Amino acid sequence: MSEAPVSSCDYEGYDYRGRFWVGRDYEDAVERIALRRLLPPHGGRLVEIGAGYGRLGDLYARYQQVILVDPARSQLREAQKRWGTGGRFIYAVGDVHRLPLSTGGSDVALTVRVLHHVADVPAAFREIHRILRPQGRYILEYANKRNLKEVARYLSGRSKRAPFSSQPVEYAPLHFNFHPSYIEGGLLEAGFSVEKTLAVSSLRLGLLKRLLPHSWLVRIDGLLQSPTAALNLAPSIFLLARAGKEEERSDGLFRCPSCGAEDLEERASLVLCKGCGREWPIVDGIYDFQM
Ligand SMILES: C[S@@+](CC[C@H](N)C(=O)[O-])C[C@H]1O[C@@H](n2cnc3c(N)ncnc32)[C@H](O)[C@@H]1O
Repeated sequence: MSEAPVSSCDYEGYDYRGRFWVGRDYEDAVERIALRRLLPPHGGRLVEIGAGYGRLGDLYARYQQVILVDPARSQLREAQKRWGTGGRFIYAVGDVHRLPLSTGGSDVALTVRVLHHVADVPAAFREIHRILRPQGRYILEYANKRNLKEVARYLSGRSKRAPFSSQPVEYAPLHFNFHPSYIEGGLLEAGFSVEKTLAVSSLRLGLLKRLLPHSWLVRIDGLLQSPTAALNLAPSIFLLARAGKEEERSDGLFRCPSCGAEDLEERASLVLCKGCGREWPIVDGIYDFQM
C-alpha cells in the first residue's frame, strides 16, 4: 500500500482506481474468483464496508439492496457514477468502528482490502456482527503477515518482522498485516464461526507476473485457492464467516452513529435522529454520517 496517500488511510481525493489498480489485473481477477466462491449468490441487503469506488459492485447483481459505506466521500462519489442513484445502490459516509446501520438489518457484509487500515479489528468485528441478521454472512479479506515471501525474508535474515507472532504488524502508519490466528480469534470472540478459507494472490511475484501469461496466473491461482488454504501462506486470505446470534432484526436501514438510536426519520435532504436530534445531511444522494 505504498501508493496510498501520505502514510495514512485517508482516501479522500485519492485516485485509488487510477493510481493503485493499473497493472494489478491479476489481483483483481483472483479476488473476484474468491468472492464468487464465498458470496451467497443472491439475497436481500448486502453491505460493503470500505467499498472505495465500488470496484466490486458488479458481483452484487443478484442482491435487492446494496449499501456501499466508506469514510471517503470522493470514493463514494465515484462509486455513484458507476452504479447510479435511486436504484439498488445506496451510498453512506461512515466508519467500520461505528457503522451508521441498523442492528440485525443486513444479510451479508464484506470488507475487502480494508482491515489493513483498521486499528481496532476486534471492535470492527463486533460492529459488523451487530449489523448482521442471525446467521448472516461476513466475507472478509486480510493481509497475511506469515505469507511465504515474508517467512522466507525473515528466515534468511532480510526482514526483522517476526511473521509467526500473533500480534498485528504496523509496517506503516495505519497499515497492518495480520496473523491468521489473530483474525480468526477476533471473529470467534465477536460471535462468528469461520466456514471457509481461501488462499488468494499466491502468485503475486514480479518474476511470475513477467514470465507467465495473465490467464495462466489467474487459472493457477483459482486452482490453488481452496487446496492451499489450510497452509495460510498466501499474502491475501479470504474468509467466509457466519454470525451466530439470537433473533434480532431491525426493520430500519440506519442507526445514529453518534448516540446509537435506531429511530431515524428521513426528510428531503437529511436524516433526523430522534434520539439525539442530530441531523445527518444527504448530499447529492450520499448519506453523510461522518462524525
Ligand atoms: C484499499 S481501499 C479498498 C476499496 C475496496 N474495498 C476495494 O477492494 O476496491 C480501502 C478503503 O477502505 C476505506 N477505509 C479506510 N479506513 C476505514 C474505516 N475505518 N472504516 C471503513 N472504511 C475504511 C478507505 O476509505 C478506502 O476506500
